[in-house]
Amino acid sequence: MENTDSQFADLIAKDRKAQEGERWRGKFLDYLQRIKQEPALGKLAHTRLYGMVIGEGSGNLTQRDDPRVKRLFGDEPPKVYNFFKEEFFGIERPIAQIVRYLHAAALKGEENRQVLYLLGPVGAGKSSLIEALRRGLERSDPMFAIEGCPMHEEPLHLIPRHLRREFEKMLDVTIEGDLCPVCRFRLEADFGGRYEEVPVAAVTFSKQARRGLAIVPPVDPNNQDTSVLIGSEDISKLDRYSEGDPRVLELNGAFNVGNRGMIEFIEVFKNEVEYLHTIITATQEKFIPAPGRHGTVYVDTVIVAHSNEAEWQKFKADPTNEAILDRIVTVKVPYNLRLDEEVKIYQKLLATSGFRSHVAPHTLEVTAMFAILSRLAPSATCDLMTKVKLYNGEEVVEKGTAKRVDLNELRAEVKSEGLTGISPRFAMKAIDNALTESPDGVTPIHVREALIDMVKEADFPDSTHKRYLEFLQDTIHKAYLEILEREITKAFVYAYEEQAEALFQNYLDHAEAYVNKTIVKDRNTREELQPDEAFLKSIEEHIAIIGPEAEGFRQEVIAYLWAAGRRGQTIVYASYEPLKEAIEKKLTHSVRDISRIITKARTRDEEQSEKYEALVKNLLDKGYNDYSADVVLKYAANNLWKD
Ligand SMILES: Nc1ncnc2c1ncn2[C@@H]1O[C@H](COP(=O)(O)OP(=O)(O)OP(=O)(O)O)[C@@H](O)[C@H]1O
Ligand SMILES: [Mg+2]
Repeated sequence: MENTDSQFADLIAKDRKAQEGERWRGKFLDYLQRIKQEPALGKLAHTRLYGMVIGEGSGNLTQRDDPRVKRLFGDEPPKVYNFFKEEFFGIERPIAQIVRYLHAAALKGEENRQVLYLLGPVGAGKSSLIEALRRGLERSDPMFAIEGCPMHEEPLHLIPRHLRREFEKMLDVTIEGDLCPVCRFRLEADFGGRYEEVPVAAVTFSKQARRGLAIVPPVDPNNQDTSVLIGSEDISKLDRYSEGDPRVLELNGAFNVGNRGMIEFIEVFKNEVEYLHTIITATQEKFIPAPGRHGTVYVDTVIVAHSNEAEWQKFKADPTNEAILDRIVTVKVPYNLRLDEEVKIYQKLLATSGFRSHVAPHTLEVTAMFAILSRLAPSATCDLMTKVKLYNGEEVVEKGTAKRVDLNELRAEVKSEGLTGISPRFAMKAIDNALTESPDGVTPIHVREALIDMVKEADFPDSTHKRYLEFLQDTIHKAYLEILEREITKAFVYAYEEQAEALFQNYLDHAEAYVNKTIVKDRNTREELQPDEAFLKSIEEHIAIIGPEAEGFRQEVIAYLWAAGRRGQTIVYASYEPLKEAIEKKLTHSVRDISRIITKARTRDEEQSEKYEALVKNLLDKGYNDYSADVVLKYAANNLWKD
């Protein structure tokens, strides 16, 4: 007890000390000393944000030792920024574009005076991306500001115009902007113009306390009062002070609050055009009007806006909006289209939710399959499930041929993809619903049911309805049964991996001899054998490679693995996906009868019971619990093996 008490006290004391370190306070003269040592303190908002993001480092996607990723991004791997890496999946390109905007803006490119606008479907991560930047600022080093300034403005504004050149040289900074009316007034009234004495303090960014961070929801169209943006005059003070006295100013609008940091405009195009003009002028000129007759106020902030496609199209269609469009940097944030990455999104969301129940293997994967299917455009070259696999970086050969489907051709078929379909939010809701319904745990079967229910209730157009139900009742159903059968085979076959590996090696030996017209030396007996074509066929037939296609397939396999070996990759049975699939199906086939008998039996003899228990135990080792193992086995018995 005492022990933890002192631990708490320690933690609090340590934190307070750290906080005090941050809470630097001094006169402007002291600040000048500080900034002389560290000119970066005088950086502007875009530079601060850019520095924050790249400060955590970056890499590129193909540095990951994942052949699938290499396959997807071969020549043009997008950069991956550590700042976003743990939280965002499958949207590397939009993130790279955001960083590019910040970079150009930090270098004072045209972007410095433009709005960053994220466009994408619901739930694609727009708000979360901005939220991540906001949290980054809250964690980052404090800014230095004139104490008591409602806009926590840059203290360098205190330096009079005629001295700026000299100060800029001495300090190695650029000085931009002028004092706000409130500070200008106080400088004279409280300090008699002696600006070196004005107090300066370190100030942290805080959304809660409205320091450097502002959020603006769409404003009621009947009340597009600009005070939300630029503050107002306090009417109660108007009789005390004369007109034009800055003491009546309430500089608490979004642009005041968000000065030095970032302002987010939610669903920005829901606002009236006049309102948008204020926003655009602010970015373009870096000035906003002060309320009443107080001239203008300098602002330095990153303006980020977002909305979805429908609002954007409507806005774009109006030619009078051209001037605004010209001042916007648009970054499209589509849905992720990579199966593996979608699973990571759900894992992240599950980890942050309150649910702690059991989630059986493949549950998230099957959910993700549906999400990605719903986002893809149909292709003339292959079925949609194949496209899901290809977009995930898997190798697929065209049905019954040795020809690999070309990813780039597939991509070129469509102009844009991932702008419609179901969102991670929708998918997560299905998982949540299933978890609530089934407290002992959920399986892909539960989530598929939950998705079917949700789709039936949802307000989709008829054609979408039909398509989604087809995915769930047909495509996903079949795909899951395949996964399940493989899973059960793996749990059934003693030393599955070794057996698969042995089949693979054997296949390679014989295929190679076949292709090169040589003989095979048996690995154990050193016997010299003719290539065993019947054996090769017995594997190939499982992926419908038959007749004249076989020769091409064998050549393809050998060439592929030879090239992979030359790149230094270890060659295992899973290296070439079409062959892996064939081998797994052969193994599955070899135990199909026993699988059926054991799982379907109502009563089992002793030997069968033993086998069944071993099967269940293997499933438990693979991450199932008693309940989910029972559910999937029953499902397999009823659906997999038709009598
Ligand atoms: N690619 C992704 N990687 C990680 N998480 C994601 C991704 N896409 C969406 N999410 C998660 O899904 C949830 C919904 O995203 P968010 O609220 O940011 O979407 P949005 O684009 O702002 O949607 P809306 O247009 O409805 O406001 C968030 O929890 C977000 O973290
Ligand atoms: Mg949002």
